[in-house]
Amino acid sequence: MDSWYDHADEVDIVTASLNEVRTTLHLEDVKSCVAVGSGHGSIELPFLQLCMPNVLEFTAVEPDLESAAAMSKNLAERLPNVVSVVCQEMVQQWRDPDQPVDAVLLFHVLYYLNAQH
Ligand SMILES: C[S@@+](CC[C@H](N)C(=O)[O-])C[C@H]1O[C@@H](n2cnc3c(N)ncnc32)[C@H](O)[C@@H]1O
Repeated sequence: MDSWYDHADEVDIVTASLNEVRTTLHLEDVKSCVAVGSGHGSIELPFLQLCMPNVLEFTAVEPDLESAAAMSKNLAERLPNVVSVVCQEMVQQWRDPDQPVDAVLLFHVLYYLNAQH
């Protein structure tokens, strides 16, 4: 994980483009969201704040202990009014809730999964 964050100057590029994403995708009605492989939330959190400003419930599925802990801390600091859960596990083991969610974020995680997953 260190190597990813050491080289993630892309985060700056992505966050700079979020205004365009916001005005293109219109995700204002999203109330519930799951992020798979959220890491620390370095892209997910600015995305939620800017593009999904009305989200009420958020779940992060992140197997790495340190990243899951950082995500919990970052959520509490940056989205204190959102009901948030961080599930520290692989998405393959995650028991998703019966309730559907409005949106699923998969930022830089699909390449960890194969077609079966
Ligand atoms: C390259 S990082 C991306 C982090 C974050 N999404 C971002 O864009 O800044 C990939 C993340 O996916 C997580 N991950 C890897 N395999 C996973 C799996 N099977 N289920 C859920 N998360 C996984 C890793 O622990 C890591 O935090």
